[in-house]
Amino acid sequence: MNETIKTILGRRSIRKYKDTPVPRELLDILVDCGKFAATARGIQPWFFSVVTDRAVLDRISKCNRDFILSLPEGAMTERARDPAFDNFHHAPAAIIISGCCGDNPEEFTIADCANAAENICIGAEALGLGSCYIASFKFCLSGPDGDWMYSALKIPNGYEPYYAVSLGYPDETLGERAPRRENLVAYIG
Ligand SMILES: Cc1cc2nc3c(=O)[nH]c(=O)nc-3n(C[C@H](O)[C@H](O)[C@H](O)COP(=O)(O)O)c2cc1C
Repeated sequence: MNETIKTILGRRSIRKYKDTPVPRELLDILVDCGKFAATARGIQPWFFSVVTDRAVLDRISKCNRDFILSLPEGAMTERARDPAFDNFHHAPAAIIISGCCGDNPEEFTIADCANAAENICIGAEALGLGSCYIASFKFCLSGPDGDWMYSALKIPNGYEPYYAVSLGYPDETLGERAPRRENLVAYIG
């Protein structure tokens, strides 16, 4: 099978990583994968925070955990009760993608950042790295400690964090994938 197709079909969300650091050259390649995603009107409305400082990822996770546990019981409460709760699944690195709307409709900026995140996940698979696409790292932005994240991630004014990708060498082997949903394709012509 074609290597690119094999990579796309082989990607999985990895939630257990080795401590081995991800080399800077690979992180640079993955940022390029993000930067070469398609964007509406070619605007490239993103900013990439490449984090290898686990203390920063730990603080984001703690901030989210505290925030979730301060809310009435909900879908995330059970997970957040775990003292080992970590939005980034204890990965040694993560890339956080922020977007700037400006005069771009928000739906396009979100789509552009999502495209970058998926490209990074596919690139990681091609490089033998595990990845996990993450949206749940930003609950705490609306909490009392929310502003801290913007400065810790060096996010420029006017940008909002939308997605993150955790990255590292996989420390798990996943079994069969869930079957793909059927009968959701129409061929016209
Ligand atoms: C927009 C989006 C948000 C996601 N957020 C999270 C998340 O916060 N935490 C997580 O562990 N996985 C997250 N995922 C990963 C999905 O759970 C995962 O892709 C899905 O279960 C299918 O598994 P697979 O990636 O192995 O095919 C997210 C995926 C997408 C596309």
